[in-house]
Amino acid sequence: MSAPIKTAVLPVAGFGTRVLPATKTIPKEMLPVVDRPALQYVVDEALEAGIEHIVFITGRNKNAIEDYFDEAFELEEALARRNKTDIAAELKRLRPKEGTMSFVRQQSARGLGHAVWCARDIVGGQPFAVLLPDVIVKPLGPSEPGCLKQMMDAYVQTGGNIIAVDEVPERDVSKYGVIAPARNPGSPPDGPLIAMSGMVEKPAMEDAPSRYKITGRYILQPEVMDLLATQETGAGGEIQLTDAMARAMDAGSPFHAFAYRGDDYDCGSKLGYFEAVLAHALDHPEIGDGARALVDRVRG
Ligand code: G1P
Repeated sequence: MSAPIKTAVLPVAGFGTRVLPATKTIPKEMLPVVDRPALQYVVDEALEAGIEHIVFITGRNKNAIEDYFDEAFELEEALARRNKTDIAAELKRLRPKEGTMSFVRQQSARGLGHAVWCARDIVGGQPFAVLLPDVIVKPLGPSEPGCLKQMMDAYVQTGGNIIAVDEVPERDVSKYGVIAPARNPGSPPDGPLIAMSGMVEKPAMEDAPSRYKITGRYILQPEVMDLLATQETGAGGEIQLTDAMARAMDAGSPFHAFAYRGDDYDCGSKLGYFEAVLAHALDHPEIGDGARALVDRVRG
């Protein structure tokens, strides 16, 4: 049986070039989705899944992230003095406990695989999760488990490596890592776990082995981290996590793809970010009614 997953790696060093100039001075992970930074949703998803330590892989100009997860003493004091105890309590509740977060600088932008490898000392030879904070995966309902929690439940049965996947239109496959299912790609899977025969990063549409994109949630065994140490550059001239996973699989490490329940939003793109804000506004306990009325008005 594979060891439990206690540590999650969240790479947050990217520039956010697709949403410039908004991200010129604000990390893209800190852009608000209704009333909290996009990153808070991803941290909440990790904690809900039982993660006990989060390793943020940061870069220059990302200090706002570390500050956000610190106590804001003056602010919380002032809120308490003004009897705004609800929001003060919410700020406290959302903060992971002291000593449960690490911040590691990725000194040069050499790709996702390199970013993950920067966490190797802290992960320390254990299996680990990776969550790409560009992507928010919204559960289908308020009492539905998040994507990583669903994967953790599957992991208890299967062990090994698990990659979250979702089907996308053919024209979009070249933007993502894509898995090759072990069975005919056309045949529907029996359940959420999909046996795999391989994977490839950003294939040309005609070479894509399926329409299952890799969404940005992973449970990985230590051999993937080990292989990242020697991973050569791949698609886009970057060190790719997908390539190291493919090598681990070729060397016999067990992999499953996992078709999760949830809606994913790519907050690193303008339209994806807008969709994330819209979807979360429509379901928000405080402004949901108002947001729905507004959408109805706009649609005339
Ligand atoms: C990364 C991964 C890719 C994955 C994608 C999900 O690509 O390399 O396999 O499908 O995230 O968003 P990026 O978006 O960083 O180019």
